[in-house]
Formats: sequence, C-alpha cells, structure tokens
Amino acid sequence: MLIKKGSGIKSSLITSQKQYLKRRQFIKYSLAAVGSLVLDKSQLFAETSESEYAKLPNIIPSSYSTNDKTNSWEHITTYNNFYEFGTSKEDPAENAHSLNPKPWKISIEGHCKNPGEYDVDDLVKNNQLEERVYRLRCVEAWSMVIPWVGIPLKTVLDRAEPTSKAQFVEFVTLLEPKQMQGQNSSVLQWPYLEGLRMDEAMNPLTILAVGLYGRVLPSQNGAPIRLVVPWKYGFKSIKSIVRIRFVEKMPVNTWNVSAPAEYGFYANVNPGVDHPRWSQKKERRLGSFSKKETLLFNGYAEQVGHMYTDLDLKKWF
Ligand code: MTE
Repeated sequence: MLIKKGSGIKSSLITSQKQYLKRRQFIKYSLAAVGSLVLDKSQLFAETSESEYAKLPNIIPSSYSTNDKTNSWEHITTYNNFYEFGTSKEDPAENAHSLNPKPWKISIEGHCKNPGEYDVDDLVKNNQLEERVYRLRCVEAWSMVIPWVGIPLKTVLDRAEPTSKAQFVEFVTLLEPKQMQGQNSSVLQWPYLEGLRMDEAMNPLTILAVGLYGRVLPSQNGAPIRLVVPWKYGFKSIKSIVRIRFVEKMPVNTWNVSAPAEYGFYANVNPGVDHPRWSQKKERRLGSFSKKETLLFNGYAEQVGHMYTDLDLKKWF
C-alpha cells in the first residue's frame, strides 16, 4: 500500500530477485486472465497445494454468502498483503512458513466481565463453523471473492460480556520478529493493530476466519485466526490475531499511523470517496482484465448501511 522508498541502489539497472518474481507473477496472472485454455492450471500455479492443509469439520453454508464466482485457491494464497512477511504480493506465500500457528492462544480483555484466554483449536471445536463467501475489496482497487470458514465475531465477544464502557474493539497481531521477519523493518509500526466500533464488531457479517475452501488457513492468509469485515477495505481484516480488547476510545489503527490522510479508521468501501492518490470508483477482480464498478459498502449496504446514516462518510473515511 505504501510507495516504496528508494534504497540508494540504481534499481533500474538491476533485475533483483523480487523484480523477477514480480514479472513472473504478472505473467502468471495475465495468463490466468486470458484463460486456462493456453496452459494447464498446474503449470501456472505450482507453488501451493490445497491438499497440504487440513480439512475443517462440520461446516454449514451461510445465507450471507454471495453467489459471485470465487477466486481460485491459488489466487487467494499467492497474492497477499501481509507486511510481517514482506511488502510484495508474493512475499507472504514465500516467507510465511516461518510462522508457527499451533498452538495459538487469543486473549480477550479490557472492559468486559468475563475476560479470558482461548485456544484457537478449542474455538474451532466448540463453535459451529460457517462458510461465508465474501467479496474482499482492497484499498488498492483490486478485489477477490473468498470462501472463508469462520465464526461470527459476536459469538466470541458475547461470552466475554462487554460492559457499557466498551465502545470499540481493538485487535492486535502477534509480535514475534523471529517468526515474522518483516517486523525487523520499520515499514509499519508493529504489532499491526486494527479496530472496529462496537456495533460493527457485533454485526452478523463480521467473522473471525479460521479457514478457506474448507481447509485451515494458510499462514499467508493470517493463520490461525483473522478478522474478516466484508464491507470495509481489506486492511481492516487483521491477520494472526493474539489479542482482542474492549476499549473506550477509538483505536488508532496501523495504516492510520502510517499515512493518516490516506487510511482512516472506518475504511468503508466507498466509490464516492477517492483515495488521495487514486480513484475508488472501479476495481479489477483478480483473474479478470476488465474493471467493474465498486459498490457502496462493497455491495453489503442493505446489511450495514443503517450503522452510518448519521456519519459524514467523506470526513470519516
Ligand atoms: N494483517 C496484518 N497483520 N498485516 C498486514 O500487513 N494487510 C491487510 C490485511 N491484514 C495486513 C493484515 C491488507 S492491506 C489486506 S488487503 C488484507 O489483509 C489481505 O488479506 P489476504 O492476503 O488474505 O487477501
């Protein structure tokens, strides 16, 4: 999301491994877009294999799912933003193997009567898993459709019994530079932090995802547990969460610290409010050449529009 600063090396003269990989990725996605008519899919996407990931049990479909065509496993797991593993789209798939997602505890704290620590395996075992096929619209004007597996965030938050002081919910990613090599750089302020207003967190569309395509989450997608808020730009969907805290004041999220004029707290998908450096009116669905209109609240206005009737969406972008 940031424009990378120069390192002093005349990069125009050198084809670094990164540039090589970027070009390779561009060719790969371009070929995928013109159709798998030309090449067999396995020739294009040799890097990941869905079958390496364990299947999750007892998943029920959800009425909140979209009928849009889903992106492939390969698209979803090789084109990622996860700066803890590098700033290029292909970095997370290449580097995230250093993350150890098991065992994993997530603590729920702050203004609540029943704080506690949960093992993610127990959360998976003790809750009904749902498949939620959601559109993800990135602030960079590309989008994907992803069949997440998860549980409503509300189910988990209700058990903690938040008090009336809980106005917002803050989420924090693991801070462990030994496992997350990108945390050794100062490209962002670590640990990655995000927040939601209480009603947004409790909205039935908001989920904690533990899988995709019926299998446990690959590390590059935020293993073992990440947030998914489908009407907001992708950067709200914080990955590899270790702490959820009920707070009184609006949390200052990581991208807002990094570039306050560009990334606000709300981050609602809105074609009417441009990013200062580019339009948000259209998006390119990954795997497709043509652009499509971006919809207000990413097409989820019916479910979430009521939360913002009193909010100036230009001011609170
Ligand atoms: N969470 C953490 N901890 N670190 C990140 O860099 N990137 C965000 C979000 N969650 C990010 C993160 C951004 S910018 C996007 S678009 C989505 O993750 C991408 O999710 P995906 O890679 O599963 O598509």
